[in-house]
Amino acid sequence: MSLHVTRTLPEDATDAALRADVLDGLSTDPKTLPPKWFYDARGSELFERITELDEYYPTRAEREILQNRSGEIAAASGARTLIELGSGSSTKTRLLIDALTSLEAYVPVDVSESALVQAGQALTGERPGLAVHALIADFTQPMTLPETPGPRLVAFLGGTLGNLLPAERSDFLAGVRAMLAPGDGLLLGTDLVKDEAVLVRAYDDASGVTAAFNKNVLSVVDRELGADFDPDAFDHVARWDPEREWIEMRLRSRTAQTVKIPALGMVVDFAAGEEMRTEVSAKFRREGVAAELDKAGLELTHWWTDSEDRFALSLSVAR
Ligand code: SAH
Ligand code: AVI
Repeated sequence: MSLHVTRTLPEDATDAALRADVLDGLSTDPKTLPPKWFYDARGSELFERITELDEYYPTRAEREILQNRSGEIAAASGARTLIELGSGSSTKTRLLIDALTSLEAYVPVDVSESALVQAGQALTGERPGLAVHALIADFTQPMTLPETPGPRLVAFLGGTLGNLLPAERSDFLAGVRAMLAPGDGLLLGTDLVKDEAVLVRAYDDASGVTAAFNKNVLSVVDRELGADFDPDAFDHVARWDPEREWIEMRLRSRTAQTVKIPALGMVVDFAAGEEMRTEVSAKFRREGVAAELDKAGLELTHWWTDSEDRFALSLSVAR
């Protein structure tokens, strides 16, 4: 196996994007921060710990589907290039890589350099002859992909689509369609609407790992922009929104407090009990997924769920 890691954006572009997001997000009412800033090295590690929690079912459910269906996916796609967006540790992806016998290139794409490097190292020796081109990139932005042979299969696993807001989701799916030639495929993992108590537990676990993951965004802003957020001055909140059918993670200010962000020349006031949104995690139904794919020029051809109908993996084909 050969491994290349490419940073598609200069480091100062990441810095500029963080500044713009923090400036915008903390100037609006209610305040928001986008979830992509959770994932520095510590955030990526905390996410891996989340995937092992009893309460957090999505990873296990999706792995069960991949264990049962990778052969069918491989037969339907015949991919020679697998592009994975938000690949993280690429752990579940190995089931797919093993099944895709025609695969020549694997292109994991992630904003987390530490996750990509660790995943690349773990894949070493996995499959002789497989070229791994890891891209440090933001999957919501246009990106230049390496020249590798088709057919292509884009994988977007874990339910990460749900972390995009509805308008971002349609832009994102249009962007995925633009990466594909007619007949190429998208393998999409989506968490499904279910009992509220099960959902809330998955995002508010008893051991507090998700709370630490949520507060990590404050540590990122402190380190990168010299801010003086005290993560202990905020409480983790996970709430189900039945209208929008998403879990919303928030950070609630314990007291009235003022936070300084010197890199932005910004001073931000929080009222006691004020909540700032840090993530949405939308849950889906089959008809909604099919309609969103269709709008982007992708036709749903397969829909697989785990034995408890908690999570779905779908395969769609570019028209
Ligand atoms: N696919 C893996 C990881 C999911 S965690 C799984 O199913 O377990 C979400 C991953 O997406 C993280 O590794 C995070 O760094 C990455 N990510 C989040 N927002 C991103 C963005 N805008 N561009 C690229 N990667 C992003
Ligand atoms: C990456 N993504 C699909 C996770 C989710 O379930 O929305 C992120 C996460 N947030 C809290 N726990 C896990």
